[in-house]
Amino acid sequence: NENEYVVYYKDDATAFNGEKKAEISSKGILNNKISTIIFEMLKENNINTHFIKSLSDREMLVKKVEILPLEVIVRNIAAGSICKRVGLEEGVVFDEPIFEISYKNDDYAVAMKLATREELKFLREETLKINELLKAFFLKLNLKLVDFKIEFGKDSEGNIILADEVSPDTCRLWDVNTNEKLDKDRFRKDLGDLVEGYTEVLSRMNNK
Ligand code: TMP
Ligand code: ASP
Repeated sequence: NENEYVVYYKDDATAFNGEKKAEISSKGILNNKISTIIFEMLKENNINTHFIKSLSDREMLVKKVEILPLEVIVRNIAAGSICKRVGLEEGVVFDEPIFEISYKNDDYAVAMKLATREELKFLREETLKINELLKAFFLKLNLKLVDFKIEFGKDSEGNIILADEVSPDTCRLWDVNTNEKLDKDRFRKDLGDLVEGYTEVLSRMNNK
């Protein structure tokens, strides 16, 4: 079908612009399962996504979209790059979510034509809705949604819909009681076994 793609979840992990690399056995399976549950939850709450159905342990069928070369980031709690950028201590809770858009590609001339003002307004509103849904979803699992990165795409009818993946590779998730990090920071900062963290996230989702 020309209007569909298969997304295959690999085990590769990278950090610091590809400087740090590893293959982490079964990471792709965990991310596919976690992303599937999240896309289904968002769909039930009227968020349009590219997700059609799960195909296998590592594959999902999605709607074909043209990915907007933008990384849309929301931060509820200070962590990662924002701490370095503005000298904040990790863990500071923001009064309101911080919304950031960054260009995936440094070519500014290209970037400037990426989205219209109206599309940007839609992206912001849709992203803040997604943040509220994800925050509430994770809180029920005793997880704090610290921040996340999402990507959008344009379908054949020109609708902008959520694409890519939503997983512990792209979200920071901390246990509510202990602040234990269960996301990709385990790999980025050598904090502990990554698969253990992702497995804990998935098992909380399945036991809900
Ligand atoms: P940052 O604090 O490094 O800017 O990351 C913000 C969020 O975006 C965090 O949840 C991790 C996620 N992220 C990605 O999904 N891909 C990336 O390449 C980077 C740098 C961050
Ligand atoms: N995947 C990204 C990279 O290789 C970074 C990250 O997720 O931290 O730079």
